[in-house]
Amino acid sequence: MAARLFDHASLLLLVASFAVVQMAMAGDPDILTDFVVPEDNNGNGNVTKIDGSFFTFTGMRVLVGGGPPPAFKVLKAAMAEFPALNGQSVSYAVLQFPAGIPNPPHTHPRASELLFVIDGSLEVGFVDTTNKLFTQTLQLGDMFVFPKGLVHFQYNADSKNPAMAVSAFGSANAGTVSIPNNVFNSTIDDNILAKSFKTDVATIQKIKAGLAPKP
Ligand SMILES: *[C@@H]1O[C@H](CO)[C@@H](O)[C@H](O)[C@H]1NC(C)=O
Ligand SMILES: *[C@@H]1O[C@H](CO)[C@@H](O)[C@H](O)[C@H]1NC(C)=O
Repeated sequence: MAARLFDHASLLLLVASFAVVQMAMAGDPDILTDFVVPEDNNGNGNVTKIDGSFFTFTGMRVLVGGGPPPAFKVLKAAMAEFPALNGQSVSYAVLQFPAGIPNPPHTHPRASELLFVIDGSLEVGFVDTTNKLFTQTLQLGDMFVFPKGLVHFQYNADSKNPAMAVSAFGSANAGTVSIPNNVFNSTIDDNILAKSFKTDVATIQKIKAGLAPKP
């Protein structure tokens, strides 16, 4: 008699463990309705009208016929800009890079990012939790995935031409933590930063001054 690969009990266990993996891989919390209607916040029954327009985002129209911006620019279509995304576990951002400009190291705490180069080329990279760096030079038409929560960057190394990319996120509200801003443009004490980075307070203050808003 041929040995069976799985008896009933182990098959059930296997199915159950796949279910757990699926739960662990889920994006935003599941909703119990088809979509989430924004709450009426003025209490007078003026509920948002739900029609096709509610599910439409027109904020990217500014890109049509628009030239490259003077500084690195992100146009977002996330829950804040596009409330219909609430509960749908997806969002977009359009990244515009002038020549020679990076998007500094940052993380998205709630989502992985799938970046698609639609103009120019980009140097990209991320660092995993063992501090190993993975980099790539992306050509027009290439895609790159930044795993959820890991520090990553993009850089338009071309000194003459702009670049543009569209990024999809597995969350309606991926969040962005900019490393330079988060560490040096918050109000963490200079002494703590100096000791943490094994340098002196003057060096920390110089870095902070560079990030401070220009008058
Ligand atoms: C209801 O919402 C519309 C659109 O935002 C607004 O023009 C109108 O003044 C609101 N009515 C009341 C009673 O708040
Ligand atoms: C630093 O923080 C201030 C206040 O939040 C902000 O206006 C400024 O743009 C930040 N600097 C950079 C380089 O983002």
